[in-house]
Amino acid sequence: MLGQISFIGGGVMAEAMVQGILSRKLVDPNAITVSEPRKERREELKKRYEVKVTDRNVEAAASSETVILSVKPQDLENVLVELKGHLKPEQLIISIVAGARLDTIKEGAEHEAVVRVMPNTPAQYGEGMSVWTATTRVSKAQLEASRSILAAFGKERFMNGENFLDMATAVSGTGPTYVFLVMEAMIDAAVHLGFPRHIAYELVTETMRGSIIYAIKSGKHPAELRNLVTSPGGTSAAALYQLEKGALRTVISKAIWAAYERSRSFGEKGTAPHGQEKASK
Ligand SMILES: NC(=O)c1ccc[n+]([C@@H]2O[C@H](COP(=O)([O-])OP(=O)(O)OC[C@H]3O[C@@H](n4cnc5c(N)ncnc54)[C@H](OP(=O)(O)O)[C@@H]3O)[C@@H](O)[C@H]2O)c1
Repeated sequence: MLGQISFIGGGVMAEAMVQGILSRKLVDPNAITVSEPRKERREELKKRYEVKVTDRNVEAAASSETVILSVKPQDLENVLVELKGHLKPEQLIISIVAGARLDTIKEGAEHEAVVRVMPNTPAQYGEGMSVWTATTRVSKAQLEASRSILAAFGKERFMNGENFLDMATAVSGTGPTYVFLVMEAMIDAAVHLGFPRHIAYELVTETMRGSIIYAIKSGKHPAELRNLVTSPGGTSAAALYQLEKGALRTVISKAIWAAYERSRSFGEKGTAPHGQEKASK
């Protein structure tokens, strides 16, 4: 039983989570409260999902078993100051705020049971990859509740240790950005060859989608799949030669390492100043 769930911050990610929770019928709409400062946004969410809305964070949080912190990193401190002293020990905080460490939330809200999640943008279409961890004070029932909430908008993976969250920020959290850049480069190359842009877009996105499904369904290592289509002196061999010469692997490895280090440095300072997306730049 998930009981009442409140969201502090009714933005893009909160909406993705509400949508997932309701489409999986984990709770009824009236078990969800979204606290959001902007009136038009509150009305929009209420109309779309029939959830309860308010602009009072403390009121929303106090009445829920699970309090989901879904504000931008720069707004977290104010929210924690507001919530401090208003939560009961048996309540659970789930934070999706990029860069915000468990200790920051525990100390800021004076609350022990905290789950920290790094989701990613495909969550908006139920295809997210969330990596999460928890303080030792999160009960088994709360771990299970967290798991089912996170599974409502994609795949989830619990990791024992907060350092995995910084690693996940660099791999899956920031990951869609790398994929979009590769996608963009391939589309531009196809246009350069002579395809109209909309056809270039279709060829590239369908190739990516199909390749990912193929890799997952075949269960084969990507190198094996690549070797299967690389005939001696063929087109794949010619293209791969240029990709390796351009140090694609090294660049990707360096990019992911840079994002990891940036995530760690934000964690040391408290939170990322402008959100996880910008943190990777
Ligand atoms: N988007 C992603 O894919 C993604 C991935 C990983 C992690 N995250 C994390 O998820 C969190 C939310 O991201 P998002 O993309 O959903 O951001 P967002 O769309 O900007 O949503 C944040 C919401 O919080 C509201 N808000 C601001 N101050 C508030 C306060 N004091 N109390 C209550 N609500 C307040 C904002 O209202 P106003 O619009 O009126 O300011 C806005 O509606 C961020 O911390 C981000 O790091 C996001």
